[in-house]
Amino acid sequence: MEIVRTIRDLRTCVQNWHKAGQSVGLVPTMGGLHDGHLSLIAKSNNHADKTVASLFVNPSQFAPHEDFATYPRDETGDLSKFESSGADLIFAPNVAEIYPDGHSTKIEVQGISQVLEGEFRPHFFSGVATVVAKLLLQALPDVAIFGEKDYQQLCVIKSMARDLDIPVEIIGAATVREGDGLAMSSRNNYLNPEERAVAPALYRIISEIAENVRGGQHPAAQRPWAEAELTKAGFGAVDYVAVRDAETLEPVNDASRPARVLAAAWLGSTRLIDNVSV
Ligand code: PAF
Repeated sequence: MEIVRTIRDLRTCVQNWHKAGQSVGLVPTMGGLHDGHLSLIAKSNNHADKTVASLFVNPSQFAPHEDFATYPRDETGDLSKFESSGADLIFAPNVAEIYPDGHSTKIEVQGISQVLEGEFRPHFFSGVATVVAKLLLQALPDVAIFGEKDYQQLCVIKSMARDLDIPVEIIGAATVREGDGLAMSSRNNYLNPEERAVAPALYRIISEIAENVRGGQHPAAQRPWAEAELTKAGFGAVDYVAVRDAETLEPVNDASRPARVLAAAWLGSTRLIDNVSV
């Protein structure tokens, strides 16, 4: 496994693979690797001959009050996980390589970025769309893999790649869960033992909503029940619990089209998000 830190070296490696007739998959990450990330590498290896993973904690997707400074960083540990999961090349740039002095372009994906997460983290999707567009144009992979754990992020990235005519296939990968149902996330490390014991209730409750909607209950009727259940389980503020169209994330009235249940809620000072399909 090779490690490169500049866009120039990244491009040289990918171009050499393409010249040799090999297809290339990209797995963007911010490190803090867990089995969910490793499943993205496996998925990329299934779709492409070579896999590039990026390791870059992207400052532009964190608000000033968020956890950019304390976000889990362990490059040595991450590199050995990447290696054992079958990545071929790691792109680990520093901040100046991605955002040199004078960098002033931002990508805004209207509509789909402004609901749900976008209401609570207004800076977030612009930071994600900008860095992902840059990574896609830097690597020019054939496919790029993103986890369904961040379902709205996946929808935003699909819209962005389509709107900007970036020649890449964006592929979603199923959420990897702990034995008790909690979706794997780098931020789960922030939970204390009591919070960790409460956390799986989020998945249990959104799964029950999916079941209710499949059974014919009205999507809008789910929120008050879900909020009460989350509070009873030990959660703090509930940012949203919503049943939305699986593609547009617009509100739905029934399960006649593919839909998704999405939720975000606080456990102490940690904000958890999760989603399931209806
Ligand atoms: O999902 C993530 O880890 C990040 O948002 C991503 C896609 C790597 C962009 O920084």
